[in-house]
Amino acid sequence: MPEGTSLSIVRRLPPSEATDRWTGARHGLPKAYGRTDLIVLGVGVMIGAGIFSIAGRQAATMAGPGVILSFMIAGITSLLVAFCFAELSSAMPTSGSAYTFTYVIFGEVWAWIVGWALVMELLLAAAVVARAWSLYAAQMLTDLGVHLPGPLAGITGQVEGFDLFALFILVVLTAVVAFGARIGLRTLWIIVVAKLLAVGAVIVVGATHFDQRNLSTIPVPPAPAETAADTLHSPLLGILFGQTSAFGWFGIFAASAVIAFAYIGFDVVATAAEEAEDAPRSIPRGIILSLVITTVIYIAVAVVMIGMTSYDKIDPKAPLANAFRRAGEGFMVHIINIGAVLGLTTVVLVLLVGLTRVMFSLARDGLIPRPLARINRSYHSPTRVTLLIGGLAILLAEFVPVLTLEPLVVIGTLFVFIAVAAGVIRMRQTMPDLPRGFRVPLSPGVPIASIIACLWLLVNLQVITWLYFAAWMAFGVLVYLMYGRRNSVLSGAHPSTDPLGAEGRGRHRR
Ligand code: ALA
Repeated sequence: MPEGTSLSIVRRLPPSEATDRWTGARHGLPKAYGRTDLIVLGVGVMIGAGIFSIAGRQAATMAGPGVILSFMIAGITSLLVAFCFAELSSAMPTSGSAYTFTYVIFGEVWAWIVGWALVMELLLAAAVVARAWSLYAAQMLTDLGVHLPGPLAGITGQVEGFDLFALFILVVLTAVVAFGARIGLRTLWIIVVAKLLAVGAVIVVGATHFDQRNLSTIPVPPAPAETAADTLHSPLLGILFGQTSAFGWFGIFAASAVIAFAYIGFDVVATAAEEAEDAPRSIPRGIILSLVITTVIYIAVAVVMIGMTSYDKIDPKAPLANAFRRAGEGFMVHIINIGAVLGLTTVVLVLLVGLTRVMFSLARDGLIPRPLARINRSYHSPTRVTLLIGGLAILLAEFVPVLTLEPLVVIGTLFVFIAVAAGVIRMRQTMPDLPRGFRVPLSPGVPIASIIACLWLLVNLQVITWLYFAAWMAFGVLVYLMYGRRNSVLSGAHPSTDPLGAEGRGRHRR
């Protein structure tokens, strides 16, 4: 039976299809990124809500000063996984990233499942960070003494309900991605440098207020049992060991699972592979270096934040800014506000770009409607799919209380990470000779350690997060059965005259 007409349960994308994408055969996206651009892209998408909001919230409510350890645990897990991403994207530099790797290694059904989880990760993350952007933008105006008139004040900087600022940032950034031939790289560079200067100032100025007594009790003893969460909102592991209140080691582990949100983004660098110069070498470098830089910065900021303020005095709403306000560093409050607004802008922007690349790949393979994969001739970007994604992100941000759904982003991400680590092990067995620009050291030790670390974080997520995730994935399987299985390019559903079809894939390029 030819590959294209095989049963959907076993059909796989031939490696040549995946690897040809960057040599030109199926390539539709213009080259945009040099080596250093990819590091900037990674830092641009990683440093955001995780450090400006989530870290302080987790310190105040879950881990106490042990949040520093939570950052280390999540950081080490991410680094292990980053090696695995680096190997697979060096062998298959395609915009589909983990989705395409899975298509080649494990077959279509698993690829769809991973793609579906990736879509949830990136879409939800964009909505969450847009909301966080609004909170910071509103705070920045207030701190500058700009008071919006009553009706406007009620629809800006809101935790829930309609929010004008969240709508504004998503509309603007969707337009930039849809109608820009590429991201305004120079603008991205400028914003990322500004963000790094702000974070650098936090570390340097914060260090002058450091009091080591604030770090003296790690871990903080568990909070009283009566403060424990209900079953749905308790981490799975806590339930298993009967410890569902905050603090203690369980609090540190539970916080590390949520804090994994802060590291989301190194995986997005892999989606830039088709647009990167010398992708087999530049993508692994971009992934690993941007993650190392980000990890060092995160741990430094966490140490400074905890050193400045006793954990029971951290304000979970605006942790960093209020730590400096209390320390009498009023000027730093403005720096943090500006840094956060600029920083979160690049996070949303790169998340949207990454998601368009994944959806573009799903459409190109026929698992979602193929017209979505068309490259707009004037703008040289997949404009249709971008507008669709922007619309969905706006709906999510405006009508769903997304700020409570950060753990859902994390669970989708960890699921994808496990698939990638397993993919490295499998590909070493089934395709040992496929050229790789980067090889994971100590394989299969590192991929196995990645899987165990991700599973550990997964069991530290709340029961309700698992239930939401199960519902999303069940919906995804249904979509596949009703659409993707029949319309996949490999099912032979598309005639060879289809300009995006199996035989004609090269024609819409360049
Ligand atoms: N890592 C990104 C952030 O923390 C998603 O905002």
